[in-house]
Amino acid sequence: MKILVLGSGAREHAIIRRLLADQTTHEIVAAPGNAGIAADVPVITLDASNGDAVVAQVERDRPDLVVVGPEAPLVAGVADAVRALGVPVFGPDRDAARLEGSKSFAKRVMEAAGVPTGRAVRASTLPEAEAALDEFGAPYVVKADGLAAGKGVIVTDDRDAAVAHASRWIDQSVLIEEFLSGQEVSLFFLADGTRVAPLSPAQDYKRVDDDDRGANTGGMGAYSPLPWVGDDFVAQVRDEVAQPTIAQLAEQGDEFRGLLYCGLIITPKGIRVIEFNARFGDPETQVVLPRLEGEFGELLLAAAEGRLDSVPEPRFSPQRAITVVMASEGYPEQPLTGRVITGVDAAEQLPGVSVIHAATADENGHLIATGGRVLNVVAVADTFEAARAAAYAGIERIGLEGEHHRGDIAAASRTRADLLTNPNA
Ligand code: AMP
Ligand code: GLY
Repeated sequence: MKILVLGSGAREHAIIRRLLADQTTHEIVAAPGNAGIAADVPVITLDASNGDAVVAQVERDRPDLVVVGPEAPLVAGVADAVRALGVPVFGPDRDAARLEGSKSFAKRVMEAAGVPTGRAVRASTLPEAEAALDEFGAPYVVKADGLAAGKGVIVTDDRDAAVAHASRWIDQSVLIEEFLSGQEVSLFFLADGTRVAPLSPAQDYKRVDDDDRGANTGGMGAYSPLPWVGDDFVAQVRDEVAQPTIAQLAEQGDEFRGLLYCGLIITPKGIRVIEFNARFGDPETQVVLPRLEGEFGELLLAAAEGRLDSVPEPRFSPQRAITVVMASEGYPEQPLTGRVITGVDAAEQLPGVSVIHAATADENGHLIATGGRVLNVVAVADTFEAARAAAYAGIERIGLEGEHHRGDIAAASRTRADLLTNPNA
């Protein structure tokens, strides 16, 4: 199959690596990619959010499938433009992508579909926001309504900080939300417009420092599977969250073909949705896809063509996968970029270890860091202990001045099978 993958981050690199592992040989092109992607497949220079540029490329190359990685092109309507050419696209149209692009749209869909989520009030002026903050009380949760590149949410006990955050984003409106407490789970579903097919759950680490301290980030690491969710967890989320959401979107004319990312929190009162995304999660994809068995390209094409009933349900190996993100000095506030990276090949020589590139470029034959989150060191093994040992050994082999990463990804305290039933053990 001839596949065009749009995007330039670790998510797209992980998608491409998994497509390359299919039995079927694919002809993959990435746009614009990064240095790691370019080492695996041909890349072309192109702004993935520019619909005209993407259409021109698709007309030239006529791929069998276009996979849209990030949210920005989806919200910009790039999937609509490619679909209009009659080419199958994995990624929802602009209207359905509002599930990620507008938190108030997502809340309305959930309400109509009867999907459990936190109570929320939308505010478009600061006095409205302050009144809602006082009604809900601390801890305060304030979310920018639109896309905010991972910077839109604050959870704080400090009322002044909550008001300041609301003030910063009030132009696009904010949601003030009930605080929810519990373990967070990311669960992805392939969606074909009417049907869904679950992937395997993962957990993301959002805070920059060990023990969930410090600033919120795009994600500093992840692991999969989650030994502490029950056997019926995936089916429950499918039946109570994903399927009703996709059905509601179809009913209102916003058919969703692509990846439905369910960001969930398991509260004492049950499962609640904290957010939806319209694309694969980063870094969770880096630990979910290496465990996927069978043909990945076939699944993506079936979802894009509205026929998930014609392919087998995704199956997953029982192996443990972890990813640790290596970030530039200063991330997330002020990442220092342009520094040279060494040792990637040496890290990948370790059994079970692969290095997925998030923000890298090739400059005169040197690999350099071009963003905040730079690399993902992924390890797959029979136990989390072995996967952790391999991933951190990989990190030891990689050089990047000023680099920082978390030391506690998939630590024993988080992967215990009794985490939910015995949270303080
Ligand atoms: P989001 O960008 O919606 O994923 O939010 C970022 C992070 O903020 C989530 O992963 C949670 O850790 C936290 N968060 C979001 N909504 C809530 C909530 N209602 N209660 C508690 N924490 C939340
Ligand atoms: N890891 C969080 C996200 O992809 O939104």
